[in-house]
Amino acid sequence: MTDFRAFTAEKIDDGVRRGVVELADADLPADGVLVDVHWSGVNYKDALAATENGGVARISPLVVGIDLAGEVLESDDAAFVPGDQVLAHGYGLGVSRHGGFAQHARVPADWLVPLPAGLTTREAMTVGTAGYTAALSVLALLDHGVAPDAGPMVVTGATGGVGSMAVSMLAGLGFEVSAATGKPDAADWLTALGARSVVDRKELTDVGRPLQSATWAGAVDSVGGATLAHVIATIRPFGAVAASGMVGGVELPTTVLPFILRGVALLGIDSVNTPITERRAVWERVASDLKPPMLDRMAEVVTLDGVEGALEEISRGGVTGRYLVDVRG
Ligand SMILES: NC(=O)c1ccc[n+]([C@@H]2O[C@H](COP(=O)([O-])OP(=O)(O)OC[C@H]3O[C@@H](n4cnc5c(N)ncnc54)[C@H](OP(=O)(O)O)[C@@H]3O)[C@@H](O)[C@H]2O)c1
Repeated sequence: MTDFRAFTAEKIDDGVRRGVVELADADLPADGVLVDVHWSGVNYKDALAATENGGVARISPLVVGIDLAGEVLESDDAAFVPGDQVLAHGYGLGVSRHGGFAQHARVPADWLVPLPAGLTTREAMTVGTAGYTAALSVLALLDHGVAPDAGPMVVTGATGGVGSMAVSMLAGLGFEVSAATGKPDAADWLTALGARSVVDRKELTDVGRPLQSATWAGAVDSVGGATLAHVIATIRPFGAVAASGMVGGVELPTTVLPFILRGVALLGIDSVNTPITERRAVWERVASDLKPPMLDRMAEVVTLDGVEGALEEISRGGVTGRYLVDVRG
Protein backbone atom coordinates (compact mmCIF):
# COMPACT_ATOMS: atom_id res chain seq x y z
CA MET A 1 0.00 0.00 0.00
CA THR A 2 1.73 3.20 -1.21
CA ASP A 3 1.08 6.48 0.54
CA PHE A 4 0.91 9.58 -1.61
CA ARG A 5 -0.17 13.21 -1.35
CA ALA A 6 -3.45 14.53 -2.73
CA PHE A 7 -5.49 17.74 -2.63
CA THR A 8 -9.05 16.85 -1.60
CA ALA A 9 -12.34 18.66 -1.02
CA GLU A 10 -14.72 17.23 1.55
CA LYS A 11 -18.22 18.40 2.46
CA ILE A 12 -18.59 19.23 6.14
CA ASP A 13 -21.50 20.67 8.11
CA ASP A 14 -20.64 24.31 7.47
CA GLY A 15 -19.03 24.17 4.05
CA VAL A 16 -16.12 22.38 2.37
CA ARG A 17 -12.83 21.37 3.98
CA ARG A 18 -10.06 21.36 1.39
CA GLY A 19 -6.33 20.86 1.49
CA VAL A 20 -3.47 18.39 1.06
CA VAL A 21 -3.84 14.97 2.73
CA GLU A 22 -2.06 11.59 2.65
CA LEU A 23 -3.87 8.80 0.81
CA ALA A 24 -3.05 5.19 -0.12
CA ASP A 25 -3.73 3.28 -3.34
CA ALA A 26 -6.52 1.47 -1.46
CA ASP A 27 -8.37 4.83 -1.24
CA LEU A 28 -8.58 4.96 -5.05
CA PRO A 29 -11.29 3.18 -7.07
CA ALA A 30 -10.52 -0.55 -7.36
CA ASP A 31 -10.78 -0.68 -11.17
CA GLY A 32 -8.75 1.09 -13.83
CA VAL A 33 -5.18 1.85 -14.84
CA LEU A 34 -2.92 3.06 -12.02
CA VAL A 35 -1.13 6.23 -13.14
CA ASP A 36 1.89 7.91 -11.55
CA VAL A 37 0.66 11.48 -12.02
CA HIS A 38 3.33 13.98 -13.05
CA TRP A 39 1.32 17.07 -13.94
CA SER A 40 -2.21 18.41 -13.64
CA GLY A 41 -3.75 21.80 -14.36
CA VAL A 42 -6.09 24.08 -12.42
CA ASN A 43 -9.30 24.82 -14.30
CA TYR A 44 -12.34 26.97 -13.55
CA LYS A 45 -14.33 23.76 -13.03
CA ASP A 46 -11.89 22.69 -10.29
CA ALA A 47 -12.73 25.86 -8.39
CA LEU A 48 -16.41 24.90 -8.65
CA ALA A 49 -15.69 21.30 -7.59
CA ALA A 50 -13.94 22.54 -4.46
CA THR A 51 -16.68 25.04 -3.51
CA GLU A 52 -19.70 24.37 -1.32
CA ASN A 53 -22.38 25.31 -3.85
CA GLY A 54 -20.31 24.82 -6.99
CA GLY A 55 -22.62 22.04 -8.21
CA VAL A 56 -19.76 19.99 -9.70
CA ALA A 57 -18.49 17.47 -7.11
CA ARG A 58 -20.46 14.21 -7.06
CA ILE A 59 -18.51 12.43 -4.30
CA SER A 60 -17.07 13.51 -0.97
CA PRO A 61 -14.24 13.48 -0.19
CA LEU A 62 -13.07 14.11 -3.75
CA VAL A 63 -9.53 14.28 -5.08
CA VAL A 64 -9.97 17.47 -7.12
CA GLY A 65 -8.44 17.90 -10.59
CA ILE A 66 -10.24 17.37 -13.89
CA ASP A 67 -7.10 16.55 -15.84
CA LEU A 68 -3.80 14.71 -15.42
CA ALA A 69 -0.78 13.38 -17.30
CA GLY A 70 1.77 10.83 -16.18
CA GLU A 71 3.04 7.28 -16.55
CA VAL A 72 1.25 3.94 -16.21
CA LEU A 73 2.30 1.95 -13.12
CA GLU A 74 -0.17 -0.98 -13.32
CA SER A 75 -2.82 -1.78 -15.88
CA ASP A 76 -6.00 -3.87 -15.90
CA ASP A 77 -6.30 -3.44 -19.68
CA ALA A 78 -4.10 -4.89 -22.42
CA ALA A 79 -4.17 -1.52 -24.26
CA PHE A 80 -1.80 -0.01 -21.65
CA VAL A 81 1.36 -1.35 -20.05
CA PRO A 82 3.60 0.02 -17.27
CA GLY A 83 5.79 2.83 -18.58
CA ASP A 84 3.24 4.14 -21.11
CA GLN A 85 2.83 7.91 -20.96
CA VAL A 86 -0.81 8.96 -20.86
CA LEU A 87 -3.15 11.84 -20.21
CA ALA A 88 -6.79 12.01 -19.16
CA HIS A 89 -9.47 14.62 -18.60
CA GLY A 90 -13.22 14.98 -18.57
CA TYR A 91 -15.83 12.23 -18.23
CA GLY A 92 -16.06 11.86 -14.43
CA LEU A 93 -12.46 12.76 -13.57
CA GLY A 94 -12.32 15.13 -10.61
CA VAL A 95 -16.11 15.10 -10.48
CA SER A 96 -17.49 11.62 -9.72
CA ARG A 97 -14.12 9.88 -9.56
CA HIS A 98 -10.86 10.93 -7.89
CA GLY A 99 -8.94 13.30 -10.14
CA GLY A 100 -5.53 14.71 -10.96
CA PHE A 101 -4.41 16.64 -7.87
CA ALA A 102 -2.77 13.48 -6.49
CA GLN A 103 0.45 11.59 -7.05
CA HIS A 104 -1.49 8.43 -7.97
CA ALA A 105 -4.79 8.05 -9.85
CA ARG A 106 -6.74 5.04 -11.14
CA VAL A 107 -8.39 5.86 -14.44
CA PRO A 108 -10.59 3.65 -16.66
CA ALA A 109 -8.59 2.58 -19.74
CA ASP A 110 -11.22 4.01 -22.06
CA TRP A 111 -10.74 7.47 -20.55
CA LEU A 112 -6.99 7.43 -21.27
CA VAL A 113 -5.27 9.14 -24.20
CA PRO A 114 -1.80 7.82 -25.11
CA LEU A 115 0.53 10.84 -24.96
CA PRO A 116 0.98 11.89 -28.60
CA ALA A 117 4.47 12.21 -30.03
CA GLY A 118 5.33 15.91 -29.96
CA LEU A 119 4.09 16.56 -26.43
CA THR A 120 5.69 16.01 -23.03
CA THR A 121 3.46 15.29 -20.04
CA ARG A 122 4.23 18.82 -18.85
CA GLU A 123 3.21 20.35 -22.18
CA ALA A 124 0.05 18.23 -22.27
CA MET A 125 -1.08 19.65 -18.95
CA THR A 126 -0.04 23.17 -19.85
CA VAL A 127 -2.62 22.74 -22.62
CA GLY A 128 -4.91 20.74 -20.31
CA THR A 129 -8.69 20.75 -20.37
CA ALA A 130 -8.72 24.46 -21.22
CA GLY A 131 -6.48 24.01 -24.26
CA TYR A 132 -8.34 20.92 -25.37
CA THR A 133 -11.56 22.99 -25.22
CA ALA A 134 -9.87 25.70 -27.25
CA ALA A 135 -8.80 23.04 -29.77
CA LEU A 136 -12.38 21.72 -30.05
CA SER A 137 -13.55 25.31 -30.59
CA VAL A 138 -10.99 26.01 -33.30
CA LEU A 139 -11.71 22.70 -35.05
CA ALA A 140 -15.47 23.39 -34.94
CA LEU A 141 -14.88 26.79 -36.59
CA LEU A 142 -12.61 25.27 -39.24
CA ASP A 143 -15.18 22.51 -39.91
CA HIS A 144 -17.79 25.22 -40.33
CA GLY A 145 -15.66 26.79 -43.04
CA VAL A 146 -14.23 29.75 -41.13
CA ALA A 147 -10.78 30.13 -42.70
CA PRO A 148 -7.94 32.60 -42.00
CA ASP A 149 -8.85 34.65 -45.09
CA ALA A 150 -12.48 35.10 -43.95
CA GLY A 151 -11.62 38.04 -41.69
CA PRO A 152 -10.72 38.83 -38.08
CA MET A 153 -11.60 36.59 -35.14
CA VAL A 154 -12.40 37.61 -31.58
CA VAL A 155 -11.55 35.57 -28.47
CA THR A 156 -13.31 36.50 -25.22
CA GLY A 157 -11.93 35.81 -21.74
CA ALA A 158 -8.61 36.03 -23.56
CA THR A 159 -6.28 35.79 -20.57
CA GLY A 160 -8.13 32.73 -19.22
CA GLY A 161 -7.17 29.13 -19.90
CA VAL A 162 -9.54 28.53 -22.82
CA GLY A 163 -9.10 32.07 -24.14
CA SER A 164 -5.30 32.22 -24.10
CA MET A 165 -4.99 28.79 -25.73
CA ALA A 166 -7.51 29.83 -28.42
CA VAL A 167 -5.58 33.05 -29.13
CA SER A 168 -2.37 31.09 -29.54
CA MET A 169 -3.87 28.28 -31.65
CA LEU A 170 -5.75 30.63 -33.99
CA ALA A 171 -2.72 32.89 -34.44
CA GLY A 172 -0.57 29.82 -35.12
CA LEU A 173 -2.96 28.83 -37.93
CA GLY A 174 -2.65 32.28 -39.50
CA PHE A 175 -5.86 33.91 -38.26
CA GLU A 176 -5.99 37.61 -37.37
CA VAL A 177 -7.01 37.53 -33.72
CA SER A 178 -8.45 40.21 -31.44
CA ALA A 179 -8.19 39.35 -27.75
CA ALA A 180 -10.96 40.72 -25.52
CA THR A 181 -9.83 41.02 -21.92
CA GLY A 182 -10.56 42.77 -18.65
CA LYS A 183 -6.83 42.92 -17.90
CA PRO A 184 -5.15 45.78 -19.79
CA ASP A 185 -1.84 44.87 -18.10
CA ALA A 186 -1.84 41.59 -20.02
CA ALA A 187 -1.87 43.27 -23.45
CA ASP A 188 1.85 42.62 -24.13
CA TRP A 189 1.52 38.97 -23.14
CA LEU A 190 -1.54 38.52 -25.39
CA THR A 191 0.33 40.17 -28.24
CA ALA A 192 3.25 37.80 -27.66
CA LEU A 193 0.81 34.89 -27.93
CA GLY A 194 -0.17 36.17 -31.36
CA ALA A 195 -3.08 38.59 -30.83
CA ARG A 196 -3.08 41.32 -33.50
CA SER A 197 -5.12 43.65 -31.26
CA VAL A 198 -6.40 43.76 -27.68
CA VAL A 199 -9.96 44.91 -26.93
CA ASP A 200 -11.33 46.05 -23.57
CA ARG A 201 -13.94 43.46 -22.65
CA LYS A 202 -16.28 46.24 -21.46
CA GLU A 203 -16.87 47.00 -25.14
CA LEU A 204 -18.42 43.55 -25.48
CA THR A 205 -20.52 43.32 -22.34
CA ASP A 206 -23.30 45.66 -23.49
CA VAL A 207 -25.86 43.37 -25.17
CA GLY A 208 -27.04 46.18 -27.48
CA ARG A 209 -29.09 45.51 -30.59
CA PRO A 210 -29.28 41.90 -31.87
CA LEU A 211 -27.69 42.95 -35.17
CA GLN A 212 -24.71 45.31 -35.00
CA SER A 213 -21.79 46.16 -37.24
CA ALA A 214 -20.71 42.84 -38.78
CA THR A 215 -17.09 42.73 -37.63
CA TRP A 216 -15.85 39.23 -36.91
CA ALA A 217 -15.61 36.20 -39.18
CA GLY A 218 -15.79 34.03 -36.10
CA ALA A 219 -15.30 33.89 -32.35
CA VAL A 220 -14.20 31.65 -29.51
CA ASP A 221 -16.26 32.53 -26.45
CA SER A 222 -15.76 31.09 -22.98
CA VAL A 223 -17.65 33.88 -21.19
CA GLY A 224 -21.31 33.44 -22.17
CA GLY A 225 -24.06 35.79 -20.96
CA ALA A 226 -24.25 39.33 -22.35
CA THR A 227 -20.77 38.96 -23.89
CA LEU A 228 -21.85 36.01 -26.01
CA ALA A 229 -25.02 37.86 -27.07
CA HIS A 230 -22.93 40.87 -28.12
CA VAL A 231 -20.45 38.70 -30.01
CA ILE A 232 -23.26 36.92 -31.90
CA ALA A 233 -24.61 40.35 -32.92
CA THR A 234 -21.27 41.34 -34.45
CA ILE A 235 -20.48 38.20 -36.50
CA ARG A 236 -20.27 38.58 -40.26
CA PRO A 237 -22.79 36.74 -42.48
CA PHE A 238 -22.30 32.95 -42.35
CA GLY A 239 -19.68 33.23 -39.63
CA ALA A 240 -19.76 31.24 -36.41
CA VAL A 241 -19.18 31.39 -32.67
CA ALA A 242 -17.82 28.43 -30.72
CA ALA A 243 -19.29 28.75 -27.22
CA SER A 244 -17.89 26.81 -24.27
CA GLY A 245 -18.17 28.81 -21.07
CA MET A 246 -20.26 30.75 -18.62
CA VAL A 247 -17.97 32.85 -16.41
CA GLY A 248 -20.05 35.88 -17.46
CA GLY A 249 -23.41 34.15 -16.97
CA VAL A 250 -25.61 31.36 -18.26
CA GLU A 251 -28.32 33.54 -19.79
CA LEU A 252 -28.16 34.27 -23.51
CA PRO A 253 -30.06 37.54 -24.10
CA THR A 254 -30.29 37.51 -27.88
CA THR A 255 -32.93 37.00 -30.59
CA VAL A 256 -33.16 34.73 -33.63
CA LEU A 257 -32.20 37.62 -35.94
CA PRO A 258 -28.44 36.95 -36.24
CA PHE A 259 -29.24 33.33 -37.08
CA ILE A 260 -31.96 33.93 -39.66
CA LEU A 261 -30.78 37.21 -41.23
CA ARG A 262 -27.02 36.57 -41.26
CA GLY A 263 -26.84 32.79 -41.14
CA VAL A 264 -24.66 32.98 -38.04
CA ALA A 265 -23.98 29.60 -36.42
CA LEU A 266 -23.67 28.99 -32.70
CA LEU A 267 -21.42 25.96 -32.19
CA GLY A 268 -21.70 24.34 -28.75
CA ILE A 269 -18.48 22.94 -27.31
CA ASP A 270 -18.50 20.10 -24.76
CA SER A 271 -15.04 18.88 -23.78
CA VAL A 272 -16.28 16.52 -21.09
CA ASN A 273 -18.03 13.85 -23.09
CA THR A 274 -16.12 13.73 -26.39
CA PRO A 275 -16.03 10.05 -27.46
CA ILE A 276 -12.55 8.67 -26.72
CA THR A 277 -11.65 7.96 -30.36
CA GLU A 278 -12.32 11.59 -31.32
CA ARG A 279 -10.57 12.80 -28.15
CA ARG A 280 -7.39 10.90 -29.04
CA ALA A 281 -7.53 12.31 -32.60
CA VAL A 282 -7.94 15.90 -31.30
CA TRP A 283 -4.88 15.44 -29.06
CA GLU A 284 -2.87 14.41 -32.13
CA ARG A 285 -3.81 17.81 -33.62
CA VAL A 286 -2.89 19.56 -30.35
CA ALA A 287 0.54 17.94 -30.62
CA SER A 288 1.00 19.04 -34.23
CA ASP A 289 -0.66 21.88 -36.16
CA LEU A 290 -2.62 23.26 -33.18
CA LYS A 291 0.31 23.18 -30.74
CA PRO A 292 0.56 26.65 -29.18
CA PRO A 293 3.96 28.04 -30.13
CA MET A 294 4.51 29.80 -26.79
CA LEU A 295 3.53 26.97 -24.41
CA ASP A 296 6.47 27.63 -22.11
CA ARG A 297 5.14 31.15 -21.45
CA MET A 298 1.54 30.13 -20.84
CA ALA A 299 1.51 28.64 -17.35
CA GLU A 300 2.64 29.33 -13.82
CA VAL A 301 3.80 26.22 -11.95
CA VAL A 302 2.41 25.46 -8.49
CA THR A 303 2.83 22.42 -6.23
CA LEU A 304 -0.06 20.64 -4.48
CA ASP A 305 0.46 23.11 -1.62
CA GLY A 306 -0.09 25.97 -4.07
CA VAL A 307 -3.38 24.62 -5.42
CA GLU A 308 -5.43 26.47 -2.79
CA GLY A 309 -4.08 29.87 -3.90
CA ALA A 310 -4.60 28.99 -7.56
CA LEU A 311 -8.24 28.01 -6.92
CA GLU A 312 -8.85 31.31 -5.13
CA GLU A 313 -7.27 33.29 -7.97
CA ILE A 314 -9.35 31.48 -10.60
CA SER A 315 -12.55 32.10 -8.58
CA ARG A 316 -11.70 35.82 -8.66
CA GLY A 317 -11.19 35.72 -12.46
CA GLY A 318 -7.65 36.93 -11.81
CA VAL A 319 -5.69 34.27 -13.66
CA THR A 320 -3.48 35.05 -16.66
CA GLY A 321 -2.89 31.84 -18.61
CA ARG A 322 -2.86 28.50 -16.83
CA TYR A 323 -1.83 27.11 -13.48
CA LEU A 324 0.20 23.94 -14.01
CA VAL A 325 0.39 21.63 -10.99
CA ASP A 326 3.74 19.88 -10.42
CA VAL A 327 2.11 17.04 -8.52
CA ARG A 328 5.43 15.53 -7.41
CA GLY A 329 6.94 18.90 -6.40
N1 LIG B 1 -17.65 23.44 -22.40
C1 LIG B 1 -16.58 22.84 -21.90
O1 LIG B 1 -16.34 21.67 -22.12
C2 LIG B 1 -15.63 23.65 -21.08
C3 LIG B 1 -14.30 23.25 -20.91
C4 LIG B 1 -13.42 24.11 -20.21
C5 LIG B 1 -13.92 25.28 -19.66
N2 LIG B 1 -15.22 25.57 -19.80
C6 LIG B 1 -15.78 26.80 -19.25
O2 LIG B 1 -15.14 27.90 -19.90
C7 LIG B 1 -15.07 28.98 -18.99
C8 LIG B 1 -13.62 29.44 -18.90
O3 LIG B 1 -12.83 28.41 -18.34
P1 LIG B 1 -11.29 28.66 -18.07
O4 LIG B 1 -10.76 27.40 -17.50
O5 LIG B 1 -10.68 29.27 -19.27
O6 LIG B 1 -11.41 29.77 -16.92
P2 LIG B 1 -10.35 30.85 -16.46
O7 LIG B 1 -8.97 30.40 -16.74
O8 LIG B 1 -10.73 31.22 -15.06
O9 LIG B 1 -10.61 32.09 -17.44
C9 LIG B 1 -11.81 32.80 -17.49
C10 LIG B 1 -11.51 34.20 -18.02
O10 LIG B 1 -12.76 34.82 -18.33
C11 LIG B 1 -12.67 36.21 -18.05
N3 LIG B 1 -13.71 36.54 -17.06
C12 LIG B 1 -13.78 36.14 -15.78
N4 LIG B 1 -14.89 36.61 -15.20
C13 LIG B 1 -15.55 37.31 -16.15
C14 LIG B 1 -16.77 38.03 -16.18
N5 LIG B 1 -17.55 38.13 -15.08
N6 LIG B 1 -17.15 38.63 -17.33
C15 LIG B 1 -16.37 38.54 -18.44
N7 LIG B 1 -15.20 37.86 -18.47
C16 LIG B 1 -14.81 37.26 -17.33
C17 LIG B 1 -11.28 36.48 -17.51
O11 LIG B 1 -10.45 36.82 -18.63
P3 LIG B 1 -10.12 38.37 -19.00
O12 LIG B 1 -9.72 39.01 -17.72
O13 LIG B 1 -9.02 38.24 -20.00
O14 LIG B 1 -11.37 38.99 -19.55
C18 LIG B 1 -10.85 35.12 -17.02
O15 LIG B 1 -9.44 34.99 -17.01
C19 LIG B 1 -15.67 28.48 -17.69
O16 LIG B 1 -17.03 28.83 -17.64
C20 LIG B 1 -15.52 26.99 -17.78
O17 LIG B 1 -16.45 26.31 -17.00
C21 LIG B 1 -16.08 24.80 -20.50
